Amino acid sequence: MDKKLMAAKEALNFVSPGNVIGLGTGTTANEFIKLLSKSDLCKSVMGVATSINTENLATNLGIKIVDIDSVDKIDVTIDGADEIDPSGNLLKGGGGALTREKKVALSSRDYVIIVSDEKMVQKIPDHMGIPIEILPFGKKKTIESIENLKFICRLRENFITDNGNFIVDCIPSNEIDMSVANREIKSLNGVVETGLFLNFKKTIIISDGEEVKILKN
Ligand code: 5RP
Repeated sequence: MDKKLMAAKEALNFVSPGNVIGLGTGTTANEFIKLLSKSDLCKSVMGVATSINTENLATNLGIKIVDIDSVDKIDVTIDGADEIDPSGNLLKGGGGALTREKKVALSSRDYVIIVSDEKMVQKIPDHMGIPIEILPFGKKKTIESIENLKFICRLRENFITDNGNFIVDCIPSNEIDMSVANREIKSLNGVVETGLFLNFKKTIIISDGEEVKILKN
């Protein structure tokens, strides 16, 4: 079976009737949304979307979408990830939805990540930079201040986030402590959010196409 579909199918077991579900962004999360729309759960659940694309897909498939501020809590969020290290730290934002994804994850009781096995790496960032959402105003100066923390940054071209901001993909030029780097980057004026999702309590569903492995941390 397709790896993403297999992980998405397993994630349905983490949803109960009547749940408010955080709906992630990306191709793997889309597989989950399609399966959810075809299941009996669809009649009773409500979704909080992490992006406009997700909101459009879910709405078109008949899933009721509600605003994050209209619910007290989200029962469970199902989302993908770009890279996961052995400690379960996530790198997200390949699709540019990282700020909404982090807000939804932080508002969720349970957090379930669905990935194909290629997403497991020894160290993050591995094959992409750390996506960082920045304000358009003074973007050059914000990028310079990230570069001063010893990152090589590339502005994502022709891309505007759902929040009207830019994404810079930043590769560390030497060894970094991720928590320190995350804190330092987030303290810079003009930075909205980073794609480093560290220390989230979660379940990770990994599929290799033959079977799924479930990790909890
Ligand atoms: C979007 C994300 C996605 O979760 C991440 O890019 C994974 O996407 P895909 O399932 O298509 O590989 O962080 O901002």
